[in-house]
Amino acid sequence: MTQTASAMTTNARAAIVDALNQSVAETAVTTMLAQNFHWNVTGMAFAPLHELFQQIYEDHFTAQDDLAERVKALDGFAEGTLAGMVKRSKVSEHDGQADAETMIKAMLEAQVTLAATLAGAGELAAEHGDTLTEDLCIARGQVHEKFAWFLRSHLR
Ligand SMILES: [Fe+2]
Repeated sequence: MTQTASAMTTNARAAIVDALNQSVAETAVTTMLAQNFHWNVTGMAFAPLHELFQQIYEDHFTAQDDLAERVKALDGFAEGTLAGMVKRSKVSEHDGQADAETMIKAMLEAQVTLAATLAGAGELAAEHGDTLTEDLCIARGQVHEKFAWFLRSHLR
C-alpha cells in the first residue's frame, strides 16, 4: 500500500532516512571528486572533460539538496558534515593527481556505485510503500547511469 511520510511508521521512516543519508554522502563525495577532476584534468581532451566534470558536479550539488530535503520531509536528521560523509561513502576521494583516463575510470566507478546505492534506496522505499521517495531515487539512479554511459564512451 502506498504510504506518505506522515502515515509511515517511525521505523520505516528511519530506515529510509538512513538510505537517503547514504545517498547524500556519496553524492557529496562525488561532487567534490568531479570538481577536483574539473580543476586538475590535463591532456588533449582537457576542454570537453573539464566541461563534463563541471556538468557532473553541478548536477550532483543540486541532487544533494533534493535528497537531504527528502530526509527532512520524512522528519529525519540530514547528516551534514564532510567528515561523516566521507566516512559513510562507498565512493572514495581521490588526490587528483592522475591522467585523464584514470580520472574517467574513477568517475565511472563513482557513478556506478551511486546508481546502485540509489537503486537500493528506491527499492527500500518501495518495500515500505514510500512511492514519493522511490520516485526521487529512481530519477537520481537514472542520471547516474546516464553519466556512467557518458564516461564509459570515452574508454572505447
Ligand atoms: Fe570551473
